[in-house]
Amino acid sequence: MKLEFPKEIERFGAIRFGGLQKIFELDSGGKTNGKSTRSASAIQNVSSEALSEIESQMAIVVPVRNERLKLIEGVLCGIPHPCLIVVVSNSPRSPIDRFRMEEDALRDFCIFVSKEALIAHQKDPLIAKAFAETGYTNILNEQGEVHDGKAEGMIIGTVLAWLAGKKYVGFVDADNYFPGAVEEYVRVYAAIFALSRSPFTMARIAWHSKPKIVESKLFFRKWGRTSAQTNSLLNRLLAHYTGFETEIIKTRNAGEHAMSMDLATSIDYSSGYSIEPYHIVNLIEKFGGIVESTSPDLMNKSVEVYQVESRNPHLHEAGDEQHIEGMYYLAMQVLYHSPICPEELRTEIYQEMRQKGYVGNGSPPAKPRYFPPIQTIDRSLFTEAIKGAQYAKIIKEKIR
Ligand code: GDD
Ligand code: MG
Repeated sequence: MKLEFPKEIERFGAIRFGGLQKIFELDSGGKTNGKSTRSASAIQNVSSEALSEIESQMAIVVPVRNERLKLIEGVLCGIPHPCLIVVVSNSPRSPIDRFRMEEDALRDFCIFVSKEALIAHQKDPLIAKAFAETGYTNILNEQGEVHDGKAEGMIIGTVLAWLAGKKYVGFVDADNYFPGAVEEYVRVYAAIFALSRSPFTMARIAWHSKPKIVESKLFFRKWGRTSAQTNSLLNRLLAHYTGFETEIIKTRNAGEHAMSMDLATSIDYSSGYSIEPYHIVNLIEKFGGIVESTSPDLMNKSVEVYQVESRNPHLHEAGDEQHIEGMYYLAMQVLYHSPICPEELRTEIYQEMRQKGYVGNGSPPAKPRYFPPIQTIDRSLFTEAIKGAQYAKIIKEKIR
């Protein structure tokens, strides 16, 4: 893959936010031939050999909730073979057992392509027990089950990937219509890890465009409805501290993103669809040097955040207006409640929440749930608690 080096970089405490990078060639050829992946040139080359090498150390987590099987199958087929697939499903088990159907589809896929993959249900009692026994209890509801929510599914997936000894973890949604886009996202993650100099790295995809039918023609819309708004909130946060207006953040809600395991197990998470904007907020809380870091040992490390514009258009199941509004409200909440949010911005956010009818007069905005770093989980206790499950057997084989 040939992709440009970020032309613009904003340094913020220990974090380097890279500007949007373009891809020039999806496949730049076989071998590295002894040449270094990194070069002084503005265009970086990562050979397919180097991509495969990283992919073999990467898990791809696919969060699923009630998606059409045909879509899930397409997504699985887009994930490069060397990656470990981890499906975490929160699909209903009755009146029809959707999860059983997903398990069957994954099993067939694995037979056809000769590989093993992990699949777990979000409400699996063994997983709930493992979280309870390791004290990771914020993720559990009053019935002692894991809460609903995309983030909660992603955390389960990350923990399983961590236990399986993977060095990198990436995420792709299960409702993508283009397997080729999924393949591209994973290749981008691998390319970024091949190029990054830091063990604390995050890669975020900015979709090239989302195709829509407008006046009976295909129209490739670049900016989603909430994207511009949320990006602007995060950019204003950065500008407040640096004193320079910026447009560096282009991937506020990047559902498609990946992290080195060192980073993925060090940061805090927030619930549901607030997880992606909170990545940025939490990185600044932890590594930005504004408030006292909860991980002072990591402050002298460099955290690299890359944003890459994909070439494939992104076509997924369209959410309705209420769903989109809900996501924007969540993005506002994580910033509003953060100790790094400047008072003026907090007031403005509140006014906007009022204006949009998200909160009533004088009532405080809702707050997402927060989860501590995965690193705080005792690996052997967790492994012991899940040992009866099929996914635990596969993990055991992987790390043997
Ligand atoms: N395990 C699990 N548990 N998965 C879930 C849950 C859940 O409770 N809820 C949703 N998912 C899965 C969906 O099946 C899908 O594969 C993925 O999470 C994303 O959910 P969507 O409902 O399709 O989200 P979206 O398309 O509106 O938004 C996506 O893009 C945004 C960026 O524009 C998500 O990835 C967002 O997180 C992202 O911010
Ligand atoms: Mg979707």
